[in-house]
Amino acid sequence: MDYQELINKAEEASKNSYSPYSKFAVGACVLTVDGNIYTGCNFENSSFGLTICAERNAVGSAIAAGDKKIRAIAIYSPNSEYCQPCGACRQVLYEFRSEDGLDIVTVGKYGLKVTTINELLPEGFKL
Ligand code: THU
Repeated sequence: MDYQELINKAEEASKNSYSPYSKFAVGACVLTVDGNIYTGCNFENSSFGLTICAERNAVGSAIAAGDKKIRAIAIYSPNSEYCQPCGACRQVLYEFRSEDGLDIVTVGKYGLKVTTINELLPEGFKL
């Protein structure tokens, strides 16, 4: 799948964000090695620490469907250009990276930017 299409789906997902506290909407779209896609958005809570990021929501949907090898994730926020995954989400993405790696796609005024989980989380933790 084209990474621009993945970003478009992340943008669609960001519209479902529940972020009344931060007012920072995020959407994510995961692409698995089997070519399947799963979307997620962030959802917050009155008990702030319970917030779930868009990335982990999308990864959770992939796992729930039995799709555990992630090849790429697109992240979109209407509030920020080149919105990168937080530290916790980097560790979660690292866990489910495919053998060919995991691309992280963001977007901003200069177009798409593609990095990898190995660049964003070098020497990630694995048991
Ligand atoms: N957020 C995400 O969904 N993904 C990120 O990578 C960064 C942060 C959410 C969490 C919270 O709802 C809001 O953005 C502000 O931190």
